[in-house]
Amino acid sequence: MATQTDKEQTVNVIERLLKTDIGGFLYQQQIGSLHGRIFRSMQGLIRILKLTFLEFMPIFFTAIAAIIIAFLQKPLLASVMILVIPTGLFLIVKQISSQKGIRVALLRGKERVDGKVVEMLGGIETIRVLNTAPFEVNKVEAIAESQRRIEMRHHVYMALFDATKYLNEAFFYIIVIVLSIYLASQGVISRGDILVYSILFLSITNPLREIHKILDQAHESSIQVNDLYNLLNQPLDVSFNKNGLNLRIRSGIKQPVISAKNLYFSYADKEGILKNISLQIKRGEHIGIVGVSGCGKTTFIHILLKLVHGNKGEMYLFNEKLQDISRETIAEKIAYVPQKPFIFSGTIKANILYGCHREISEDELIEGAKNARILGEIQGALGGFSGRVTENGNNLSGGQRQRLAIARVMLQSPELIIFDEATSALDNTNEAIIQQNIERVFKGKTIISIAHRLTTLKSADRILVFDAGKIIQEGNFDSLSKTKGLFQDFLLQRNKVEAKK
Ligand SMILES: Nc1ncnc2c1ncn2[C@@H]1O[C@H](COP(=O)(O)OP(=O)(O)O)[C@@H](O)[C@H]1O
Ligand SMILES: [Mg+2]
Repeated sequence: MATQTDKEQTVNVIERLLKTDIGGFLYQQQIGSLHGRIFRSMQGLIRILKLTFLEFMPIFFTAIAAIIIAFLQKPLLASVMILVIPTGLFLIVKQISSQKGIRVALLRGKERVDGKVVEMLGGIETIRVLNTAPFEVNKVEAIAESQRRIEMRHHVYMALFDATKYLNEAFFYIIVIVLSIYLASQGVISRGDILVYSILFLSITNPLREIHKILDQAHESSIQVNDLYNLLNQPLDVSFNKNGLNLRIRSGIKQPVISAKNLYFSYADKEGILKNISLQIKRGEHIGIVGVSGCGKTTFIHILLKLVHGNKGEMYLFNEKLQDISRETIAEKIAYVPQKPFIFSGTIKANILYGCHREISEDELIEGAKNARILGEIQGALGGFSGRVTENGNNLSGGQRQRLAIARVMLQSPELIIFDEATSALDNTNEAIIQQNIERVFKGKTIISIAHRLTTLKSADRILVFDAGKIIQEGNFDSLSKTKGLFQDFLLQRNKVEAKK
């Protein structure tokens, strides 16, 4: 039963986490901390199950049996003896409630270490180059030291409570012995009975002590189970919300592909990221977006992909309200290459086919890789389509990671294709050829490219110039280069830089 529960709950928690609000709960956690919490909380659940069925139940019935035997044999003394139970329970309740805060703090401390370690491993190259290992070790040590202090305090409390529990038992033991000696001296019971009472008393206190121990451990686990409960009850991201219409658009895409009216957006901790954006994008248009770093380009795309929520104003996708569009439709109709593509440990082939729901022939796979200009490397140094990719694609170059992600979208059949600085790590030649391939493969489809280099936008039908969350200019490359404004400034700056070279 425990293993089955373990499996089920692991699956449930992971499923839930993959569907929670990205900007809310998930981004506020460190990955390592979350991982630590998931698996510790699972252990807590398993432990509580084992404690209940394998330890508590048998010992509980032993204790009940001991009490019944005591009552059957010596009712008078038994009623004195069992007074040890409420006082003992009172102490354990006190112990548990006083330790709750400490136990939660210890768990959170462990998660801080987990989070720190995973974060550090992700930055190992920088740590090595900056030689900041001692600094990082100090940080972990500081957390470990504060953990040690809390743990020490915990042990002191536990020892005190244990001592009190023993005193409680001893107190009643003495009462039982004194009482039985008195009764023996009065001739009510025989002298041999003194020993019987003593044994009876111990037959109650031994299981009681075990029960205390189990309750204490169960309490520790219950805090973890509470964490598990909280993880399982994280609210679903609103894009999974069944209250929306959840429109699944299969065919017959309605125009305009994208339409926004007076769109405003703020992050919880940052105001005015997008301001009064109004635009329409028709089917088949090739739109370029430019603007300085941090002006809100990616945020606009994230709103469109329903990754972030809470925008004011109206946003339509395929002429339906964005909030009514299902995740399935977004997955089927939009292909997206993010700034930092998701490359995972596995084969090259698995990475390219990721998210593709139809059968892909060998020829198509080769064609996709070729269009993304990575076929040569795959067939060469990368060891073929079954070549290994390590976590985050760490054994690949930045450009290879980007081209794998581009090969991935080449195999999809979307209506709308979005590139967010997707070729930033590529050389000009590769970038230009990939761009031509994209235009050929996705002929007639809507393409949005957030540009890293302005030259890539020469063939765009329309360029939107973003500045501080607003669209301040709009037009094609030629018209914008002839008009005074931010776009022309960008071009002039680039020309100056090139002239210096
Ligand atoms: N998840 C987030 N939470 C809070 N602020 C964010 C988040 N993502 C981006 N920002 C902020 O929003 C602004 C716009 O970011 P972004 O849309 O990524 O810019 P761009 O893609 O144009 O470089 C930046 O100031 C950035 O710091
Ligand atoms: Mg960006």
